[in-house]
Amino acid sequence: MQNKILKLLYNSEDYISGQQMSESLGVSRQAVNKAVKSLRDKGFGIESVTKKGYILKSVPTQLCEEAVKLFLRTKIVGKELKVLETVGSTNDYLKELGYKGAETGTVIIAREQTAGKGRLGRVWQTKKDDGIALSLLLRPELSPAEISSITPLSGLAMCKAINDFCMLDSRIKWPNDVIVGKKKLVGILTEMAAEFDRVDFTVTGIGINVEHTVFPDEIAHKATSVLLETGRHINQNKFVATVLNYLEQELIMNRYRLNGTTVSDYQNLCATIGRQVTFARGKRNISGMAVSINNNGELEVMLSNGTIATVNSGEVTVQGIY
Ligand code: BTN
Repeated sequence: MQNKILKLLYNSEDYISGQQMSESLGVSRQAVNKAVKSLRDKGFGIESVTKKGYILKSVPTQLCEEAVKLFLRTKIVGKELKVLETVGSTNDYLKELGYKGAETGTVIIAREQTAGKGRLGRVWQTKKDDGIALSLLLRPELSPAEISSITPLSGLAMCKAINDFCMLDSRIKWPNDVIVGKKKLVGILTEMAAEFDRVDFTVTGIGINVEHTVFPDEIAHKATSVLLETGRHINQNKFVATVLNYLEQELIMNRYRLNGTTVSDYQNLCATIGRQVTFARGKRNISGMAVSINNNGELEVMLSNGTIATVNSGEVTVQGIY
């Protein structure tokens, strides 16, 4: 109900009366009043003038379910969407929902994480309203070997969303960081529940640094935030909706696969390509020039003897970045 009232208010350029809203939604005036009150409590600036009705003046800047939904233009991603005040980890929370049958496209967003997880067992901090923690559950009809494109496509979507919404020149640090300059703005962690030959679901967790002005000492030299880069406080609801719109475009519309266009988009936005990189192979560290990514999302590195090594996971150090 609140979502429907909000849509009416948002789409109306002028005042709209309680009577008009109750007629067009087929509900009582009382129900309209109640929904307007709840929306005001959530921070929506809804002004009312006698004999004219209601007008939407402002939308909360902090995360709120109704506001994200208002700006969403997707069919699948975020059809089921929840914003939590606080949670241990959005990935863990969503995996639990996945085991209980949550549908593809379900999104969990949190304003705070108390036990956020990074890659390789690291910790990912999300303090209240400083960062955005978001997880997306997908049920691709692919084998475990075929889902390697999910993380690169998510990285591509994030990079496009940031450049579009924040007007920044962010780049992808292969395989799954989004950076501005030499500093990290976004981290991505994809987990999966699968049988031997069939993926049950994947959960892609995305952590975005938004309002941070300081970082813990260990990462201060290599982390940044939207506020630090732009000097602006963004509307987190509009931003999250933009992120989800791009995730639908890159993941769902491409059927979870990298193709000619997405590989080329990725390469154009990838900071790793064209740089010297070092990666581990067995017990040895090998260096070479990152030249491309392939349709599986793997990094292709030219070694000093002219051969191409394919790198598909683990840590890669990129000269000049981190
Ligand atoms: C990394 O760069 O190490 C990946 C960080 C991923 C963090 C996100 S925040 C939302 C989701 N929930 C988690 O517990 N982790 C991911």
